[in-house]
Amino acid sequence: MSHADDNDSTRRDFLYYATAGAGVVTAGAAVWPLVNQMNPSADVEALSSIFVDVGGLDEGGQLTVNFLGKPVFIRRRTPEEIEAARATSVSDLSIDRDSRNPNKPGTDASDENRTLDDDGEWLVMIGVCTHLGCVPLGDGAGDFDAWFCPCHGSHYDTAGRIRRGPAPENMHIPVAQFVDETTIQLG
Ligand code: FES
Repeated sequence: MSHADDNDSTRRDFLYYATAGAGVVTAGAAVWPLVNQMNPSADVEALSSIFVDVGGLDEGGQLTVNFLGKPVFIRRRTPEEIEAARATSVSDLSIDRDSRNPNKPGTDASDENRTLDDDGEWLVMIGVCTHLGCVPLGDGAGDFDAWFCPCHGSHYDTAGRIRRGPAPENMHIPVAQFVDETTIQLG
């Protein structure tokens, strides 16, 4: 399992691994693999769904879950971040206007189509730059005070949409849903 994220994680940015049925648990949030841990052949490949307890995340908090070998950013956005994202019209998106959201296939990249909940508090996305696959820096980085990939200078906004730089697509969103008030299912 590679180190998923070597960015300058801040105190709000926790790193989680769900490796072969054993999650590292920190700060009140947890990852529970769905697979039977007694079955070694199941291992990571069968880890097609995981449940993430986000009850411990405050506004502006973010955690990173390693899911199917990729980092997934789960961010509880601030009102300012939500406002900035929702004030951006699709026509302002000059690089990619697709939501890249399998939960809402074929939709445009308006903020409403990117977030997990209607109010836009929760943004869940695969933390991989769509240029060449680096893990962007988060928590207010870059020209849009959100995510920035320093590898070749790609700037993403508070909805994870590419706004400047060589990356061709918005950061992708994984299959995800809330299964109760504080639990997000990935996969
Ligand atoms: S990999 Fe992110 S800008 Fe090139």
